[in-house]
Amino acid sequence: MTHTNDHDNVAAHVDVAGQQVLDVGCGAGGLVRWLRERGAEPVGVECGDAMRAMALEADPDNALDYVNAVGQDLPFDDATFDVVTFIYSLHHVPENEMVLALAEAHRVLRPGGIAYIAEPVAAGLGHQVSRLIDDETEVREHAQAAIDQADALGFDRATQRSYTTLRTYADFEAYESMMVGIDPDRAAAMETHRDAVRDLFHEHGTAGDDGVTFESSVVFDVLTKR
Ligand SMILES: C[S@@+](CC[C@H](N)C(=O)[O-])C[C@H]1O[C@@H](n2cnc3c(N)ncnc32)[C@H](O)[C@@H]1O
Repeated sequence: MTHTNDHDNVAAHVDVAGQQVLDVGCGAGGLVRWLRERGAEPVGVECGDAMRAMALEADPDNALDYVNAVGQDLPFDDATFDVVTFIYSLHHVPENEMVLALAEAHRVLRPGGIAYIAEPVAAGLGHQVSRLIDDETEVREHAQAAIDQADALGFDRATQRSYTTLRTYADFEAYESMMVGIDPDRAAAMETHRDAVRDLFHEHGTAGDDGVTFESSVVFDVLTKR
């Protein structure tokens, strides 16, 4: 099977060079830095302290590009951006505010602007491991239901598409710190289930020179602001 990575898939479907791009839930800021290298003017918003700290540590000269905010309440004027991206972040917005987060994306986009939303599919071996800590099946369904409101929110929606990607963790500790870093509320469950999660991580992941790899499926939407 052919794989792509999350950043390449953005570039394959959105023209980013010279564009002002807002990355909602930017995590450690990998996409922000990647976009800047490709000639975009990116800003990330991130509400997780640990993730924002990682972004600032990786990119200390551009601290102003990482804003402490949530997707459902964006601190930007109307019609500020050409592109808004959500990479695995929409399902982290509180369930009853996911539609509001998309309405906020619509508000801060210029007419004709693009909202690009990638969401992981709750299936596969990686999901078998992560669900021991946090089963995201339902919240991901809610995120898809929110995207289904695109037309009512003032977006034109192309057909939803998908790709598969590979995610590699240097070791179990790297996996654990990623899982808890993106949602600190998972710490207690990780504490309780660590041994079982570690066993399943090694059972389901494919070990290689770089660490342990999981294949996962991603669905993505490209919405255009009318
Ligand atoms: C799975 S991570 C993805 C991070 C990054 N986009 C990436 O692809 O590596 C989800 C991110 O959404 C963030 N998040 C949590 N609540 C959010 C909210 N209400 N609005 C926007 N992002 C949120 C988390 O802090 C976390 O960094």
